[in-house]
Amino acid sequence: MAKLNDNYAQLQGMYLFSEIAQRVAKYKADNPSANVISMGIGDVSQPLVPSVISALQKATLEMGTKEGFRGYGPEQGYDFLREAIAKNDYADRNLAISADEIFISDGSKCDVGNFQELFHADARIAISDPVYPVYVDSQIMAGRSGNFDGSLWDNIYYIPCSIENNFIPELPKTPVDVIYLCYPNNPTGTVLSRAELKKWVDYAKKEQAIILFDAAYEAYITDSDIPRSIYEIEGASDVAIEFKSFSKTAGFTGLRCAYTVVPKNVFGTYSNGEKKDLHSLWKRRQSTKYNGCPYIVQRAAEALYTPEAKVEIENILSIYKNNARVIFDTMQAKGLQVVGGENSPYVWVKTPANYGSWEFFSLLLEKTNIVCTPGVGFGLMGEGYIRFSAFASTENTLKAMESFKNLIL
Ligand code: MLT
Repeated sequence: MAKLNDNYAQLQGMYLFSEIAQRVAKYKADNPSANVISMGIGDVSQPLVPSVISALQKATLEMGTKEGFRGYGPEQGYDFLREAIAKNDYADRNLAISADEIFISDGSKCDVGNFQELFHADARIAISDPVYPVYVDSQIMAGRSGNFDGSLWDNIYYIPCSIENNFIPELPKTPVDVIYLCYPNNPTGTVLSRAELKKWVDYAKKEQAIILFDAAYEAYITDSDIPRSIYEIEGASDVAIEFKSFSKTAGFTGLRCAYTVVPKNVFGTYSNGEKKDLHSLWKRRQSTKYNGCPYIVQRAAEALYTPEAKVEIENILSIYKNNARVIFDTMQAKGLQVVGGENSPYVWVKTPANYGSWEFFSLLLEKTNIVCTPGVGFGLMGEGYIRFSAFASTENTLKAMESFKNLIL
């Protein structure tokens, strides 16, 4: 029999959102008349905006012509999209990122999951807790997480984020090589000020560590003191990789398009001491294992940078931002401890009466037909919390919050 990758045997249970989907499917099968409202996975509900649809149509027609047809595209993405991103998301904000430092992909989940391949099997990884489960799971798959004691992995440096430290991560006390930061944070919805993020960039420079900065929710930042890109911090382009996605910004969860910025000045060392830039390694990795995001999807992403699309997108974002406020206010009025929701589509809530996360998830599903995400699925520090996503329709959000108000706790 073929020998399998033993690391996969170390994975604890199912992927979080698969487990939720399975439990919800069972509940729906047992209760066919229940009107279940999903506020669990951060999947959008608003349709694609008109500018995206016309770009998709135009590019599709083009592909049906002899002159416009395209086969394999460049693995790193078409120049038209890389240039639009470099101009709109960086140059227009006075950030020096060049188009060829931008790698287009079909999603940030794949990029944050795959990027760890560039690091040594013994590299010490710092990951905040709670956080998006892909960061830890991909270390386990790579055999880098060490031993599991039933709660934690001994080769992962956990950075606890809780009410005790106001959800502000503290710098590692022992050396680490790679640091995952996600801001606005998934799942807590909290943000890092410019001064706090600067501490991390300074730390990475001093310790020669690399920051993997997941900025998938940057479009939800309304506060001008909160950086929307790590490159707003001086020196970050020497130490940080940035992941951005069109999923939560423009409803691309089904269409699939994202990008990763790998500045040419970020370096690591091989075991023999040779210094190597991560840009050329990521390019090598992507050209070997990835065939590029579809042309028509990249044209749709390019269309997001037109003035009309910017207005269309703002209208959609304001629906989700408003939902987040409604959720936050409902939780607060109910007397629950709650954070997030202000510069983020996620609201992080302490369960009442010391319910465990999964326990409260089930109670909520059964009594109100609301699906949330159990906080413990994001890490040990998430136990006793749940996360609400603001991506349902306004109608469903209001309906769900009305049921929540009537829930006897
Ligand atoms: C989430 O709900 O945390 C996200 O939607 C998951 C993802 O983007 O993969």
